[in-house]
Amino acid sequence: MSTPTVAPKTNGIVIAVVKEQARGEQRVATVPEVVQTLTKSGYEVLVEHDAGAGAFYSDDLYVAAGAKIAPGRTELLDGATIVLCVQPPTIADVEMLAEGTIVIGFMNAANNLPTVARMRDRKVTAFALELVPRITRAQSMDALSSQATAGGYAAAILGADNCPKFLPMLTTAAGTIRPATVLILGAGVAGLMAIATAKRLGAMVEAYDVRRAAGEQVRSLGAKFLELEINAEDQDGYARELTSEEKVKEQQMVSAALARADIVITTASIPGRKAPVLITKETVAQMRPGAVIIDLAAESGGNCELTQSEKTVEEHGVTIVGPQNLPARVAIHASQMYAKNVQSFLSLLLSKDGALTREFTDEILASSLLVNAGEVRHKPTLDLISGGRL
Ligand SMILES: NC(=O)c1ccc[n+]([C@@H]2O[C@H](COP(=O)([O-])OP(=O)(O)OC[C@H]3O[C@@H](n4cnc5c(N)ncnc54)[C@H](O)[C@@H]3O)[C@@H](O)[C@H]2O)c1
Repeated sequence: MSTPTVAPKTNGIVIAVVKEQARGEQRVATVPEVVQTLTKSGYEVLVEHDAGAGAFYSDDLYVAAGAKIAPGRTELLDGATIVLCVQPPTIADVEMLAEGTIVIGFMNAANNLPTVARMRDRKVTAFALELVPRITRAQSMDALSSQATAGGYAAAILGADNCPKFLPMLTTAAGTIRPATVLILGAGVAGLMAIATAKRLGAMVEAYDVRRAAGEQVRSLGAKFLELEINAEDQDGYARELTSEEKVKEQQMVSAALARADIVITTASIPGRKAPVLITKETVAQMRPGAVIIDLAAESGGNCELTQSEKTVEEHGVTIVGPQNLPARVAIHASQMYAKNVQSFLSLLLSKDGALTREFTDEILASSLLVNAGEVRHKPTLDLISGGRL
């Protein structure tokens, strides 16, 4: 193993980086480039052995950036001031954390209530990156967006890989090939990246979203926006659930577009709710044989009725893919972007002189604070925990 060229003075704050344990998780919460900045500023960075292996960042690279390697989880978490992760900690992890330890990562609280309750009981502080408000000042910390960008890109590549056609138009001695048609349902961050990627691959791209504002963004990427006389944008800029009448209109329009698509990428979701069904069983039967559906909403119930999470199924000659954790497929860049998000977030907690604030009054810190000092601070999670009497 190489040794760091400089041994900077530390300020007593230990930042620990876990090796992700969730199945298929290849990402890591920080990368050597960010570690170097932290160690140069006087923080001690402790990285769990092989934490970066899934994203091809070796222990040696972290050591060269000034980190120390912890052989296992116990050595990593013992004495950590701040713990960085991508996926939520497990209950076993929480048991090893001292009171006041700060954990930063995606917390997916609604699906991890027992862990949240344990963090409350052990007086751990947890910041959920998915709760960072989408205000201009927090753009560099928006891990939901950076990871949706990675997911949208990976979805378009997965669609192309499963499609038995070329995507671009080809004029060859063996004849002219028409470009494939790609349909994107849901033009948020992931959808827009999928559009841009499919366009670069040479496909004809159509897209639809219930937020009319998405139309301009879709058109600016050179794709066709399918208009429906609905604008279901709420005051926070997110989609609201459609009325039953609106759903019927939507399905009629979507069905017509589906019948001419070779690849469909669905990303439609409504925060905190089950994903809306945009593709029924009957519609799948009307699609072109050989067509492909990549359902990014698979983890929240699926936008297609026939999607099975984590599986690829074929129905009526249509391949339906329900991927889990697409950002992990581009783990190097997804980790790099996530690490930058975390670094920006840390700058709110750590002052230039290396002091750690425990005053979480900043709007971004206050909004993303899930648990602190024995209390669940995020109201929707608190309601779920109180309802379940945890
Ligand atoms: N810093 C910022 O200002 C910032 C950063 C990121 C995103 N945003 C905005 O936040 C919003 C949501 O972004 P996201 O990608 O996280 O969204 P998301 O993952 O919650 O949803 C994905 C997309 O699905 C769409 N959708 C929901 N129901 C649908 C339906 N029935 N049919 C078709 N489409 C449907 C949504 O409108 C959204 O565009 C967007 O307006 C985005 O531009 C703002």
